[in-house]
Amino acid sequence: MSQDAGTEAVVPGDANTTTGEGVRRRDFINIAAVSAAGVGGVVTLLPLISQMAPSADVLAESSTEIDVSAIQPGQAIKAVFRKQPVFVRNLTPKEIGEAEAVDVSTLRDPQTLKERTKEGHENWLITMGVCTHLGCVPLGAGEGEVKGEFGGYFCPCHGSVYDTAARIRKGPAPKNLQVPEYAFTSDTVVKIG
Ligand code: FES
Repeated sequence: MSQDAGTEAVVPGDANTTTGEGVRRRDFINIAAVSAAGVGGVVTLLPLISQMAPSADVLAESSTEIDVSAIQPGQAIKAVFRKQPVFVRNLTPKEIGEAEAVDVSTLRDPQTLKERTKEGHENWLITMGVCTHLGCVPLGAGEGEVKGEFGGYFCPCHGSVYDTAARIRKGPAPKNLQVPEYAFTSDTVVKIG
């Protein structure tokens, strides 16, 4: 009997056919491609995640240790803490007396010297060297620098004046110089941060 002219013969193994085996092979190829993309995603994500974790350098920078033994009463130094200036000042008994004599209720940002220093180390005034107005570095920590009329720090940018407890006394700055987190790890070493 002759074959109908409108139909085609199905030949097993022909690549162009739609046999069950052919469909399975294509599915496998698609799955393999998707899996490869998934692996690629994980491989590219891992370096990103490890870049987001703080490096040892950054962790080390997050605190600063300062040996204050060479800073004499009446002297100050400028150090760097998290890429910003920090002032470490050894107050004289006179400067402590001046700070304590102020009626705190008259201050723009009321704080006692005691609240701004550590117990047993009241002569050590440690503040950020960043004016709370617009962020200039005030004068007064360096040798021979102008300290302003209240004997602390003076910001020449717009004329803010800080007292011997680094509290704002005059000018546009709204707040006292910020006291960072710190602790004495010995009588002569301060760890800031
Ligand atoms: Fe210090 Fe303006 S930035 S007074």
